[in-house]
Amino acid sequence: MQPLLIHAGVAMAAAMHEVADLLANAKHVVVMTGAGVSAESGIPTFRDALEGLWSTYSPQQLATPEAFARDPELVSRWYDERRMAVLKCKPNPGHYALAKMESSMSAAGREFTLLTQNVDGLHVRAGSERVVELHGSLTTWRCTETGRTYRDLPEPFDEYPPVSEDGGLLRPGVVWFGEALPATAMRAATMALRECDLYVAVGTSGVVYPAAGFVHEAARSGAKTVEVNLEDTPLTQDFGVTLRGKSGDLLPELAQESCGVSL
Ligand code: OAD
Repeated sequence: MQPLLIHAGVAMAAAMHEVADLLANAKHVVVMTGAGVSAESGIPTFRDALEGLWSTYSPQQLATPEAFARDPELVSRWYDERRMAVLKCKPNPGHYALAKMESSMSAAGREFTLLTQNVDGLHVRAGSERVVELHGSLTTWRCTETGRTYRDLPEPFDEYPPVSEDGGLLRPGVVWFGEALPATAMRAATMALRECDLYVAVGTSGVVYPAAGFVHEAARSGAKTVEVNLEDTPLTQDFGVTLRGKSGDLLPELAQESCGVSL
């Protein structure tokens, strides 16, 4: 058993050096994150079992326009509980490492684009600047009548479903199943994937499109591809290099080795 473990440790160290080297030399890095990057902040991932009141509902049941139309009270209450929960959470070392890598690379005239499927706002709170929120944000809600967006909201809302100043129902500013991703976010992602020479997917199960297809778009542009995840995903074989472990451990190590930044 021990020789196998030693072998795995050596292979992992070699893969870490390889990825640090890629990060150190890339001209345009695109990092795409999923729920796994926020797991160490205490936010359950989508494929984790949800606890308490919500354990009997799957996100797929609640995260649809039909669910909101059918039961706006239930859906808005669920999203407001998630909003209140993420406001209590803090960015973890993985979020900070990405923010530090961005500022270090930008200072060196290199490009760094962060695409995220997360709606928790933790990348922005950690200091990342060029963040594309593909699935929107939990902290911005919009009026279903006028489309006006609201950021300065009571914590929590006093009633469900909440009503906007315009008189329409307020819905969370997130993308639901069956809805298109925000056009500006998709444009920014497409451009970045076309131009990047390194693509790194962190903490995503790779089952929800279009983000799951980004690895193929990046590879078509000639980019090297890296997957950082606790475990294998359905897309693992499509990546050039894979790193297994917690993003909160691996990203700070990569930031240190590739850019010389420590948290
Ligand atoms: P998932 O919950 O599907 O997957 C989380 C991934 O993170 C899994 O592959 C885990 O192995 C990995 N993971 C967990 N903890 C980790 C850690 N500490 N370090 C590294 N990896 C870790 O989340 P997403 O892929 O983000 O969409 O889900 C994609 C989309 O599906 C979500 O944005 C959401 C959901 O339904 C919408 O709501 C539209």
